[in-house]
Amino acid sequence: MCQENEKKCEGILSVENESEVMEASEGIKKIAVVGAGTIGTSWATLFAAKGYKVNLHDIKKEYLEQAFQTVEKNLKLLKENGLVNENITSTLNRIFLTTDLSLAVKDADYVQESVCERFEVKKVLFAQMDSICSEDVILASSSSGLLMSDIQKFTRNPERCIIAHPFNPPHLIPLVELVPGKKTSKNTMEVAYRFYLRVGRIPLKVKKEVPGYIANRLCAALWREAIDLVCRDVASVRDVDLAICAGPGLRWVLMGPHLIYHLGGGKGGIEEFVKHLGPAFETWWSSMSSWTSIPPLAVKKIVEGIKEEIGENSLDELYKWRDEKLLSILKTISGA
Ligand SMILES: NC(=O)c1ccc[n+]([C@@H]2O[C@H](COP(=O)([O-])OP(=O)(O)OC[C@H]3O[C@@H](n4cnc5c(N)ncnc54)[C@H](O)[C@@H]3O)[C@@H](O)[C@H]2O)c1
Repeated sequence: MCQENEKKCEGILSVENESEVMEASEGIKKIAVVGAGTIGTSWATLFAAKGYKVNLHDIKKEYLEQAFQTVEKNLKLLKENGLVNENITSTLNRIFLTTDLSLAVKDADYVQESVCERFEVKKVLFAQMDSICSEDVILASSSSGLLMSDIQKFTRNPERCIIAHPFNPPHLIPLVELVPGKKTSKNTMEVAYRFYLRVGRIPLKVKKEVPGYIANRLCAALWREAIDLVCRDVASVRDVDLAICAGPGLRWVLMGPHLIYHLGGGKGGIEEFVKHLGPAFETWWSSMSSWTSIPPLAVKKIVEGIKEEIGENSLDELYKWRDEKLLSILKTISGA
């Protein structure tokens, strides 16, 4: 899988010090996952399943115990779907739980920070991790939209700090957006790129840092309109969700908006599409809302609407359903 991914990405990569980059990414054996919430737990699942040793850190023992149970559940699902062969106990034995940050990061070859999305917390943590880890260890943040240029200012080795933004749950969804800060080195970008390929992810190099990077900006634009449609009583929460899942969402598994509209333009492709439907889009854009904080009435409506959409299903049931369906989709599109 890793080799296949690397092959697909040949050409995108132009590395000057190729052998150094290969050596550095191959030298990664132990990963510190700092923050054992939704994302940290999922990263720990992926890294352990791929054969790495994992130091999983959080501020409270009970969070770690909860995370460990979730990793076990995740691994069971991966095993049931033939994605891991090893027995689960052996995989779990590679995970070391600790509330001591120093113990978590001091012998790690790579750090995947996954604490809450608060700049004040991340900047202190990066300063601490930077002072403990040896200088060649990459410090990657799972942040959903913060800028690494702001965080790395608090480190003495800013060149080894990078954003590696996953999509939830990262042990299933392959995208990882790599976003450098102003002081991130090219080498850090390349080693991180190779590393995520090695764990079967699809890393993407963002050229310029912007809040929310690529995918979350696109999601944010869509979500504002989805909320607005509910708020203006155009449709229910359930129907707005259905309008995505039963329609464009099915194409989005295969293609992004540009390629979709290229195919929608007939023989003239995207150029024809712009000529033909561009004016219609302009009318829609001009009728759309541009608020930048969610109206309180909208919050009330979407909270009520989601209750209606999920009915009696518990969160645990929904997670299980989501992960099983995601696995089927991933199997289908990878042709496995
Ligand atoms: N949830 C998502 O859908 C999603 C998707 C992609 C990226 N992210 C990003 O991943 C990161 C983690 O998000 P999450 O959803 O897992 O959050 P979460 O709240 O589920 O988990 C965060 C964990 O970090 C721990 N923590 C807080 N401060 C800490 C510290 N100083 N040291 C160690 N642990 C600490 C908390 O106890 C908690 O267990 C955020 O930056 C978020 O933006 C989230």
